[in-house]
Amino acid sequence: MSLKISRALVADDLAAVEKKMQKAVDNAYGPLSDALELLIRSGGKRVRPMLTLLAGRFHPPRDHKRLISLAAAIESLHTATLVHDDVIDGALLRRGQSTLNAVWTPSSTIMAGDFFFARAAGLVAETKHPRVISLFADTLQVIVDGELRQAFTARDWSQPKEGYYQRIYGKTAALFELATRAPAALGDAPATSEEALRSFGYHLGMAFQIVDDILDFVADEKTLGKPAGSDLRAGIITLPVYFFIQQPQRRQQIIGMIEGRPTGDPIVAEVVQMVRNSDAIEQAHDEARAFVEQALADLDALPALPARDALIDVARYVVERTY
Ligand code: IPE
Ligand code: IPE
Ligand code: MG
Ligand code: MG
Repeated sequence: MSLKISRALVADDLAAVEKKMQKAVDNAYGPLSDALELLIRSGGKRVRPMLTLLAGRFHPPRDHKRLISLAAAIESLHTATLVHDDVIDGALLRRGQSTLNAVWTPSSTIMAGDFFFARAAGLVAETKHPRVISLFADTLQVIVDGELRQAFTARDWSQPKEGYYQRIYGKTAALFELATRAPAALGDAPATSEEALRSFGYHLGMAFQIVDDILDFVADEKTLGKPAGSDLRAGIITLPVYFFIQQPQRRQQIIGMIEGRPTGDPIVAEVVQMVRNSDAIEQAHDEARAFVEQALADLDALPALPARDALIDVARYVVERTY
């Protein structure tokens, strides 16, 4: 099955999710409404709501509309984190378009992100399921924790691999975990199914962020629709860099090249090239593949529905994707 076919399986539901997200814009103050509209229409891959809708096929909730609200809540939460993330990273391009912070002040951009967070909370409340709402709140805490860990460990060249894993769990895998687990909770699925789906989302999310970190080195801005090479520029030690600096000689070399330089220094681009052309990329990719293998194994515990084939597809796509 191709990702296209998997997407087609939930196409009607995805359209309903878009509509729900769009509603956030309706009552907003003019300039905010314009900005949010642009943000929603710029799309994105919609991987998370797709996962929620597919995971929801195993133990459908009595009221299908609640699953739509949940998927819209999760994608809205994702969108809000991106708005804040681009302020934090100083990124000027996202989904091939100017970011809000490229045209607005940081403080106004933060408030637009907050508006979207509030909307996400409203949407998850529509599920009327206290445990789902509570899982949602917990996840947001974990995301913030991950982003702060990232900020405070920048340029720490001797951080352990576990630190990286903890950070990417926080900033990305926790939301994937929610995307696949919350629909099971919503459908009051047995604990074993919920656990299988949670674990699937966790493993997939870890692989997804490792690939995102690889793409930051190997892809170009045009394909990504967002800046490339930006993690190292911000001093973020991602898995490719971690592997690269395991050789002491290389570690000394790149620390010597980067330390004390302004983030825009052309020398950083040179270091990006060095990492890009090294075996570190393949080593990182091996880890992403291993996470996907674990994700696929998690699915063995679920019944062989078309939705399971579609989840297998999404998992394969995650390690093959080029943007
Ligand atoms: C970007 O997520 C942020 C990460 C967690 C890597 P996506 O790659 O899913 O972004 P969109 O929604 O498709 O733009
Ligand atoms: C973003 O991770 C994670 C969150 C938004 C919480 P990245 O910083 O790697 O995402 P991109 O590369 O800007 O999309
Ligand atoms: Mg970023
Ligand atoms: Mg990234």
